[in-house]
Amino acid sequence: MSGEASGEDGATQRLCAPGEIPDGGSRGFTLRAADGREVRVFAVRRGDVVRAYVNRCPHRGTPLDWRPHEFLDPDGRHILCATHGAVFRIEDGVCIAGPCTFEQLTPLPLERRGDELFASADPEE
Ligand code: FES
Repeated sequence: MSGEASGEDGATQRLCAPGEIPDGGSRGFTLRAADGREVRVFAVRRGDVVRAYVNRCPHRGTPLDWRPHEFLDPDGRHILCATHGAVFRIEDGVCIAGPCTFEQLTPLPLERRGDELFASADPEE
């Protein structure tokens, strides 16, 4: 299943080092919000660029991955929802095809500290 991100100060947690995400691939993580909720997120890496989103489809609210850590379509060019096939742009999470066209995944801002990436554990607040 998704990797567990290690806790930090409650608001911001270590997500991973970029090298923990395969280049051209994706990986899921679970953050722990301040109130104890688990927040499932995922990240996509292309070289030095990493984008991350909450793992929830805007169509029905289900997780997007079709297998653990698998969030991309077969050619790795778009994010693909496993439930009804919505297709999202990697760069901004906007849906470009499927039942929630023009809706957007919730972005997870990342902060780079040295060689590691950190993220807010409450990305929707
Ligand atoms: S739940 Fe993602 S396309 Fe329907």
